[in-house]
Amino acid sequence: MTQSRADALVFFGATGDLAYKKVFPALQAMAKRGNLNMPVVGIARETWTLEMLIARARESVEKYGGLDPEAFNQLCKHFRFVAGDYQQPKTFTKLRETLGDAHHPAHYLAIAPSLFEVVVNQLSVSGCARGARVIVEKPFGRDLASALALNKTLLASFDESSIYRIDHYLGKTPVQNLLFFRFANSFLEPIWNRNHVESVQVTMAEDFGVQGRGAFFEEAGSIRDVVQNHLLQIIAHLAMEPPMGTDSEAIRDEKVKVLRSIKSLACDSVIRGQFAGYRSEKGVAFDSQVETFAALRMELNSWRWKGVPFFIRAGKCLPVTCTEVMVRFRQPPAIYTETPLPANYFRFRISPDVVIALSAQVLESGDDAKGHPEELTATDCPAVGRMEAYERVLTDALKGDQTLFARQDSVEQAWRIIDPVLHTSVPVIEYQPGTWGPQEADALIQKYGGWNNPSLLKVVAPC
Ligand code: BG6
Repeated sequence: MTQSRADALVFFGATGDLAYKKVFPALQAMAKRGNLNMPVVGIARETWTLEMLIARARESVEKYGGLDPEAFNQLCKHFRFVAGDYQQPKTFTKLRETLGDAHHPAHYLAIAPSLFEVVVNQLSVSGCARGARVIVEKPFGRDLASALALNKTLLASFDESSIYRIDHYLGKTPVQNLLFFRFANSFLEPIWNRNHVESVQVTMAEDFGVQGRGAFFEEAGSIRDVVQNHLLQIIAHLAMEPPMGTDSEAIRDEKVKVLRSIKSLACDSVIRGQFAGYRSEKGVAFDSQVETFAALRMELNSWRWKGVPFFIRAGKCLPVTCTEVMVRFRQPPAIYTETPLPANYFRFRISPDVVIALSAQVLESGDDAKGHPEELTATDCPAVGRMEAYERVLTDALKGDQTLFARQDSVEQAWRIIDPVLHTSVPVIEYQPGTWGPQEADALIQKYGGWNNPSLLKVVAPC
């Protein structure tokens, strides 16, 4: 077991892309909030100096979120840098020396998954794993078998309570708000089940392509990249039973039950697409069969949800960047009107803005028999001072709170669900950038009112 609070943060991959885009801004924010009073050791293979690391960190915060001179100076006081080959024991001897009096470091592996094993083994042999915890970036494996093997590697040096598997979606306030909204409002529970809900759908649309990450994407594809982790976590939040308490295990126990209830995907429930032009991206094979779009239908075998289809759609180069959940209710009987009325729905927008909306039919003015749908809306602007996802998860990992991290069993269940699709060849269908993916995806959901295509016009007044 780890002690509750870490006394140093070591981050592998300090010169890398993730550190540049996400980690440095998160560290500055943590320093500002007083949540980082400990050595922060950057470690990388490049033969950089501490000054170079600080220059890179400055550039990063300037680009992603803005420099806060006071917080940045605080952060710089904590920085150390170790350069060295991850294969070499002397890199880890140097790390142990640099850690000095710190005996409960958190080792954050912001590196390629292919390096996890070697780094974990070296941490163990050098004594750096003793009393420590490890924070692992996704993707956690590339299928069920490799995730099992990776867990085995980690568990040889760290126990489960010391392993923090990052899914940054769990650090997003609106994703947590799904749980809050469900369990803080008594009106919802009586209708949140198969008797009233007709279908559930989640769309994660991005209006950009692979942004120079072609080589990475070739190894991943949309299903591994965002369905196995971010989107299944959202489904778990939507479908789970009330937890028995607020501790991390009570919540994670309920989430894993949802994943266990989901049948492994059948190939005819999945549509894979690839945007035209993907094969010309750097690092992408000329005949690549990797998907940049996926639409799928899942079934939950549980008392609450049996018979309610859950749809997921995720894609690059779609018309907008937006993640939105739509929970559609069963259609009301047409007793008051001659024509059938549209079903009510709840719409939860997770990004770029935060919206919770409930649709309702109201009478058309001047017409006694005709209704039209209105949305009752609650919106939320990104409040100044709210923690961004990476700040939140790194703060929690240092504190020793595992609630927002994926537990071994849930990671394995998530792979079990998508594994059949990874190992069979569902054909990949080309779609034009700026469209909603291949038309075949529409057939999947046609019977249930079609996809909700988020429109950014719905965005309420800017904050
Ligand atoms: C990452 C994926 O995990 O999440 C990316 O690798 C994706 O492909 C990103 O673009 C989306 O995260 P966010 O926080 O920008 O919605």
